[in-house]
Amino acid sequence: MKLSLNEFIWQQRSDERLQRVAPLLLAIAQSCRLIAGAVRDAALNNAMGAAGSSNIQGEAQQKLDVISNELMMAETRDLVRALASEEMDEIVPCNPDSDLLLVYDPLDGSSNLDVNISVGSIFSILATPEPAGDLAAESFLQNGRSQLCAGYALYGPATMLVITTGHEVNGFTFDEHSGLFMLTHPKLRIAEEAKEFAINTSNARHWPAPIQRYIAECQAGSSGVRGRDFNMRWVASMVAEVHRILLRGGVFLYPQDSRESSKNGKLRLLYEASPMAMLVEAAGGAASTGAERLLDVQPERLHQRVPVILGAMNEVALIEGYCRTAIAESYLESNTLHKGHALLETQFQ
Ligand code: AHG
Ligand code: MN
Ligand code: MN
Repeated sequence: MKLSLNEFIWQQRSDERLQRVAPLLLAIAQSCRLIAGAVRDAALNNAMGAAGSSNIQGEAQQKLDVISNELMMAETRDLVRALASEEMDEIVPCNPDSDLLLVYDPLDGSSNLDVNISVGSIFSILATPEPAGDLAAESFLQNGRSQLCAGYALYGPATMLVITTGHEVNGFTFDEHSGLFMLTHPKLRIAEEAKEFAINTSNARHWPAPIQRYIAECQAGSSGVRGRDFNMRWVASMVAEVHRILLRGGVFLYPQDSRESSKNGKLRLLYEASPMAMLVEAAGGAASTGAERLLDVQPERLHQRVPVILGAMNEVALIEGYCRTAIAESYLESNTLHKGHALLETQFQ
């Protein structure tokens, strides 16, 4: 007998974080159910294509980005003190009596919408630092360790919801017949040995040297230092990549690169990197910027970007080691502390 999300929450009575976020989590699940429907029926409802607007990072918004953002906001706003989204420049104050904050990417991988490839939603729930009174964007600037709950919904052949409150990761599949999310993937664990890597290799010439080294070694496979072959995947939906890694292992990288627009990477810290890092760590993997643990990064801005390396613990440790070696070599070469610091900041953070 599979448990529904409701039954699962009831069963996990000793998980205080889960109990604290339960009503909000159920509202998020409901909004994901509605977003799944909007994505599925978009071509029938004239909801495909560009909305004609752009978000704070200058990215063209798709109609479905806007629709998903509104669906998530409508379902959750009574249950949070404030919310923030990839698709809104500023935070939205909501219910002054709530002590929870919600930050989300309503539709991740939206470049895949036109071609009917999996997309998803990513969310992170935080506690309000202030007990009462006005709330500013600074309240959201908490490191990833402060998250009470994180998760994503995947709109693929099946709609799934994958959540963690920090100690384990559980996956629920939406059952069209009952209208419930059912626990189909309990206690997900990331395989220790990675066989697949995921990175957008069209950016290879811009990558920092340690990333080029790591990927070259994976590509060399059994004829190189790794002594075994790797497969490559790139869906261009982070949700789908992380889901694959949770189910069958591997590593995902979206590093910073030498271009001005990518000097801090592409993915956003608060509503992409942090929640995924929490999930990956809770499933026995690791998540890093190359220079530090992702969950330790102190956010400075709501929409800040960050380099992301996540997945099997050993692979992430290997890449971090390459980054550290490169930093150490730069110290030796320059023989000045200043240059080493500059390199650390520009190349690995
Ligand atoms: P979003 O659609 O929310 O802007 O995020 C897209 C992200 C992420 O899902 C994916 O890993 C990456 O962008 C894809 O980047 P490329 O276009 O470089 O493949
Ligand atoms: Mn995204
Ligand atoms: Mn998005």
